[in-house]
Amino acid sequence: MENELILEQISKTFDDGSLVLKNISLRLQQGTKLSVLGPSGSGKTTLLRLIAGLDSSDSGTISFNGQIMNTCPPHRRNFGMMFQEFALFPHLNVFDNIAFGLKMKGMDTVRIAERVNEMLIMTGLENFQTRRIDELSGGERQRVALARTLAPQPRLLMLDEPLSSLDRVLRKRLLSELTDILSRLNITTIFVTHDHEEAFAAGNRVIIMNQGKIEQIGTPDQLIRTPENQWVKEFLGQ
Ligand SMILES: Nc1ncnc2c1ncn2[C@@H]1O[C@H](COP(=O)(O)OP(=O)(O)OP(=O)(O)O)[C@@H](O)[C@H]1O
Ligand SMILES: [Mg+2]
Repeated sequence: MENELILEQISKTFDDGSLVLKNISLRLQQGTKLSVLGPSGSGKTTLLRLIAGLDSSDSGTISFNGQIMNTCPPHRRNFGMMFQEFALFPHLNVFDNIAFGLKMKGMDTVRIAERVNEMLIMTGLENFQTRRIDELSGGERQRVALARTLAPQPRLLMLDEPLSSLDRVLRKRLLSELTDILSRLNITTIFVTHDHEEAFAAGNRVIIMNQGKIEQIGTPDQLIRTPENQWVKEFLGQ
């Protein structure tokens, strides 16, 4: 199937010998909005880093669109990743932040301007293109980070706790803005969070991780109605 992400029996141990991911298998069709929910230390970020190619697994395969990705360097995967702190360039303005990945790809300036403009419109930042990052609110920064990540048309989007540095009220508003934008795109999205509400609002499928294993995978409704075991039940506060 086109642009399908398949993880088969992925395991990861760090140098100190701790087994951080244990036989993770997962299959995501294009357009799936997956939330990865689990307590701190359950292996969520490690899972994203393996998919992104920032780290390698000890065993198992990761494939995308029919191709094995295990040895493919991160920049060749054409996957986008957005982090908690956004990692924007504070000395560059909004336009140049969004254009950054396109310049790295060697795109010509006319096409860069077109693509950045599309991104500015999509994220409602048309009037901010010459603003510096340190003159933006947290919510505006988040939209710049999203625009920058989406500009090179990644085949897969990963977000690692994209809202956790914001206060509660803003978090709620931005979550709905973010899911609105993403729901209009047919891009597979993996959204990592340790917040149940966020996970259920952002994903049409959710995996619950605990100590490097998938405890359960299902729709938000299935997880709420039929938690598979006691741990999931307690974790979801039932
Ligand atoms: N580079 C590393 N070297 C050794 N251990 C690591 C490394 N990175 C992560 N770990 C360990 O792997 C486990 C999983 O970490 P990971 O960052 O994937 O968890 P997480 O689910 O993202 O947690 P959080 O919600 O706190 O971000 C933790 O016990 C962590 O200490
Ligand atoms: Mg993490």
